Amino acid sequence: MKIAVAGKGGSGKTTLAGTLARILAQSGNRVLAIDVDPNPNLAVSLGIDPERAAAIEVVPSSFAHHSENAEGKYSVGLDLSPEEIAARYGTPAPDDVSLLIVGRVEAEQAGSGCNCSAHTTVRGILEHLHADPGFHTVSDMEAGLEHLKRGTLEHVDTLLIVIEPYFKSLEAAGRIEELGRNLGVPLRYAVANKVRSQRDEDAIRSFCDAKGIPVAAVVPFDEGVAEAERQGHAVLDAAPDSEAVAVLREFAGRLLSGDVDQREDLVAD
Ligand SMILES: Nc1ncnc2c1ncn2[C@@H]1O[C@H](COP(=O)(O)OP(=O)(O)OP(=O)(O)O)[C@@H](O)[C@H]1O
Ligand SMILES: [Mg+2]
Repeated sequence: MKIAVAGKGGSGKTTLAGTLARILAQSGNRVLAIDVDPNPNLAVSLGIDPERAAAIEVVPSSFAHHSENAEGKYSVGLDLSPEEIAARYGTPAPDDVSLLIVGRVEAEQAGSGCNCSAHTTVRGILEHLHADPGFHTVSDMEAGLEHLKRGTLEHVDTLLIVIEPYFKSLEAAGRIEELGRNLGVPLRYAVANKVRSQRDEDAIRSFCDAKGIPVAAVVPFDEGVAEAERQGHAVLDAAPDSEAVAVLREFAGRLLSGDVDQREDLVAD
C-alpha cells in the first residue's frame, strides 16, 4: 500500500501516521514513512528522540526533474531510484520503520521561494517506488490542499482523511476527498479522531454519509495520546495500551487484509 494521511491542521495526521507506520511494521511489513510537512515532526511520533530528529538529513530535491509529454501528461524522473534514496537518506526508527524527511524548511531559507521541488521529489518517489505486498509507505502530509492540487499524491493508493468532530474539519475533509477522487486516488477513507462522545461520532458519520466518504475508523480522544505528546514521546512507547492504539491496531489489520468496511460505489470511480 501507498498510504497518505491528510486532513485539517492539528487533526492528528502525524500522530496517526507515525503510530500506523509502526503498527504495520510490527506485523512484519517493511515500512517507509515519508514526512512531507515542511515543518516536519513525524520522527517524534515514530519514537525518534527529538534531538536526533532535528539532525536528520533531508532528502535533497535536486534528484527530481519533471517533464510533460505531448499530451500534457506530467511525470517525474529521479536521478536516484527511490530504493537508493531510501538507502541513503532513510533514518531507522523503532520497529524497523525507515523515515525519509523531504522538504523541511530551514531557518536560513526565509524569503527564498516556494517548496515545489520537494513536492516533485515526493511525487517521483511515490511514482517510481516498487510496490510489493509486504512493503508500505505512509506519507504524513502538510495540512491543507496544496499536495492534492499539485498532484504530489497522484501515485498513492490509499488516502486517509483525518477528521475531528467540528464543522471546519468536516468541511476540509470534504474538499480533500473530492480532490483525492479527482486526482485518481482509488481508496479514500475518513478516520474520525479525537472523538469524545456518541454525538461527536454521529456528527462525523452523518457528514461522511452525506458526502459518500466511508468512515474506516473512529479513534477516541485519548488522554494517553495527549500525554505522550506533552512528553515528546511516541504514543506506542508512552501509551501502548491506550484505546486509541487498540483502534489503530484493529484498523491496520483491516487495511492489511483489504477488508476496510466500505460501500463499493463510494470508492474507485
Ligand atoms: N486521539 C487523540 N487523542 C488525544 N489527543 C490527540 C489525538 N490525536 C492527536 N492528538 C493530539 O492532537 C495534537 C495534534 O496532533 P498532530 O500533530 O498529530 O496533528 P497534525 O494533524 O499532524 O497537525 P499539523 O496540521 O500541525 O501537522 C497533538 O497534541 C496530539 O497529541
Ligand atoms: Mg502533522
